Amino acid sequence: MLTDLLGRMFSAVGIPEPLPDDPFPTLSAWLADAAASGRYADANAMALATSTPDGRPSVRIVLCKAVETESGSLTFFTNYLSRKGRELAQNPHAAVVFHWPHAHRQARVEGTVERLSDRECDDYFRTRPLLSRIGATVSRQSEVIRSRADLLGQAAKVAAATCLEFGPQRPDYWGGFKLHADAVELWSGAEGRLHQRIRWRIPGSSDQSVIGARRWIREELSP
Ligand SMILES: Cc1cc2nc3c(=O)[nH]c(=O)nc-3n(C[C@H](O)[C@H](O)[C@H](O)COP(=O)(O)O)c2cc1C
Repeated sequence: MLTDLLGRMFSAVGIPEPLPDDPFPTLSAWLADAAASGRYADANAMALATSTPDGRPSVRIVLCKAVETESGSLTFFTNYLSRKGRELAQNPHAAVVFHWPHAHRQARVEGTVERLSDRECDDYFRTRPLLSRIGATVSRQSEVIRSRADLLGQAAKVAAATCLEFGPQRPDYWGGFKLHADAVELWSGAEGRLHQRIRWRIPGSSDQSVIGARRWIREELSP
């Protein structure tokens, strides 16, 4: 009984051995694995935390549209004038967390955001379904609206005005952010709540040259 219990506690957990020097290939593999599992409508959904300059936090779900192993960054798209967009303009530090219950996995990423270029935003916007492009155009995201009927009326007008041009152009208040990671924690659930937590961090991470060289320090944390 005791040996069985200890055996389960010591059994292999999800982070590859030997522990990688760079967390991004594993993060990318976990995301792909969650998508392939077929268990999630949005395997790439992540909670994004931002805060005001005086430290009042807010959090919401956004979709992670790219994981770049090379640069150690994540990309998401939103409205720059939304609550999160305004908070990020004033305080570019952000944190995200993914949770994939089917595999007992959690991944946390912290870092600094920068806006994508207009060209990158345009390129992505063109790939979006027509209705999403219309929605992005009419939504003053996070602002109080008069009524839902009014919002839908505006959407109908934009659809009528732009359908011959195959939909609206990207509004300049809509675009993407790249989150440059300076800390990543991969969490793998284990028996007895003796979960495995590995954190990678880049010390002095405001220095972009250090981030570029990806000098990750790896540490194991108590669950
Ligand atoms: C599954 C899911 C995916 C979402 N994806 C996005 C997204 O990629 N971008 C976005 O701006 N909002 C997305 N949202 C809506 C946000 O959670 C949020 O309501 C909105 O961005 C306004 O947030 P804010 O007022 O804090 O800026 C998503 C919501 C859910 C539930």
